[in-house]
Amino acid sequence: MGGEFRTNDEKTMSELTTEIQRRRTFAIISHPDAGKTTLTEKLLLFGGAIHVAGAVKSNKIRKTATSDWMEIEKQRGISVATSVMGFDYEGYKINILDTPGHQDFAEDTYRTLTAVDSVIIVVDIAKGVEAQTRKLMEVCRMRKTPVMIFVNKMDRDGIDPFDLLDELEQELQIHVRPLSWPIEMGTKFKGVYNIYEEKLDLYTPSKQTITESVEFKDLGSPELEKHIGEQEAEKLRADLDLIEGVYEPLPPRPLKGEQDSEIGNNAAEKSPLGDLGVQYLKGNLAPVFFGSALNNFGVKELLECFIRIAPFPRPVQAEEKLIIPGEDPFSGFIFKIHANMDPNHRSCIAFLKICSGRFERNTNYKHVRFDKMMKFTSATAFMAQKKETVDEAYAGDIIGLPDTGNFKIGDTITAGENLHFKGLPSFSPEMFKYIENADPMKAKQLNKGIDQLMGEGVAQLFINQYNGRKIIGTVGQLQFEVIQYRLLHEYGARCKWEPLHLYKACWIESDSTEALENFKKRKYQYMAVDKEGRDVFLADSAYVLQMAQQDFKDIRFHFSSEFS
Ligand code: G4P
Repeated sequence: MGGEFRTNDEKTMSELTTEIQRRRTFAIISHPDAGKTTLTEKLLLFGGAIHVAGAVKSNKIRKTATSDWMEIEKQRGISVATSVMGFDYEGYKINILDTPGHQDFAEDTYRTLTAVDSVIIVVDIAKGVEAQTRKLMEVCRMRKTPVMIFVNKMDRDGIDPFDLLDELEQELQIHVRPLSWPIEMGTKFKGVYNIYEEKLDLYTPSKQTITESVEFKDLGSPELEKHIGEQEAEKLRADLDLIEGVYEPLPPRPLKGEQDSEIGNNAAEKSPLGDLGVQYLKGNLAPVFFGSALNNFGVKELLECFIRIAPFPRPVQAEEKLIIPGEDPFSGFIFKIHANMDPNHRSCIAFLKICSGRFERNTNYKHVRFDKMMKFTSATAFMAQKKETVDEAYAGDIIGLPDTGNFKIGDTITAGENLHFKGLPSFSPEMFKYIENADPMKAKQLNKGIDQLMGEGVAQLFINQYNGRKIIGTVGQLQFEVIQYRLLHEYGARCKWEPLHLYKACWIESDSTEALENFKKRKYQYMAVDKEGRDVFLADSAYVLQMAQQDFKDIRFHFSSEFS
């Protein structure tokens, strides 16, 4: 991105391919407090994108602010610049997509996951797999997103690492393969054996960083005792034997220098991890690293391995065809819209993930839903935590488009083709309320506001087919407050909420039209449609849903709108 502006003709296809293949676009996800922010910050320090620790903290929604959403929005405002963090590292272009820490904005995170090519999951050694991690992993599994796991806080006591690996496999339903292994933990933490690089990384608590990193291929050597002590050496050997016996084998290490020539060539069959890498790229297996983000321990090793095995932008399935990042002309989709809550600067930024080709400034592109050509003069890129106007960007990059109400989540921008990207999933909300007009003179404004806010993905709208009333579904209470505030301040419309007790909204389908019609007739009071007009069953309790699933065997119930 940035740099000299050149026209299409001047750039050869192979330059385009090289640019795309050196990109790594990913998200770090975790249950709140596992260490996502700390890890992000350490990665940025390595990339030279920031120079002091603490710079990313402003991005984090403070725990004390959980009930004060204005405060949260203020902090989210700050986070626009850090929503995407791009930097160059060892010839690779890294794009980290930030995901909101607050649970009430989980839907934002799900959508962000549609724009990444891989994911790093942070797990706290003391807590193991937590609720939010489980849910986010479901989304990754659904999309077959390659996943790496960083087990954090090894400087604290926690679960036995083997037990944790079992827990990860069971709870996240993915095979795992440790690529580093801890030597003790908590106050006794000595460091890790880096299985991937065949190195011993030693940790000294007082220095809070790697003090010694020793090449260590022959673990039988008595040198090991000298470094970590007798008992620990014995245990490490036994642990590693067990790992080799139980988990998939690693391929022989490539010769020095060989890896770097592989930049851009890590197609599945060329992964430095061999078969294991293929399984990782298919989303079947997660490599696991251990470390301590706070102490900057194990982070560089994670990054070094990540850039080599993580996928570059992958083909994307559009409704019309499979889009190949390096071959097809420019295309991309909007996965997130960030509204500025400051009434003095009421502008939005639409985040576009480039799926194929190259984006160029001041070029005519097609807004497919409007069937209209548009030119973007002030698209922004996100480099080193700064927003800057972008001249060109490539598949894998995220750019920000200033938005004055032109975009909705899922909109496609192309060089001219009519493409529609699949799979921006909606999940069953957790909370539901009827929305009513509190000012009869402003009905039009209210409808427009609801339509636009839903388009931005603030919450989900369902229309009850029985009484025609509008139902808003959210992940948390905060979103209701956000909607009410924004309707008033941006559209001059007043709304009021009426309680509605529902358990889940399920998208339903059936191979038999008759069975579907019969179900809809029997459950007519509980039938609704979503904003795409899809049938949704509103179950008011777990029991009702269970009975419906039992009684109507021909109907399939989905908890996400993405199914096929
Ligand atoms: P999150 O974004 O996943 O919510 O987590 P975050 O990075 O903010 O980390 C949550 C807490 O865990 C922070 O402490 C952070 O300092 C701590 N932490 C992160 N990595 C490690 C680690 O490797 N070891 C230990 N011992 N702690 C770690 P806090 O007290 O909640 O916040 P702060 O006052 O340090 O900012």
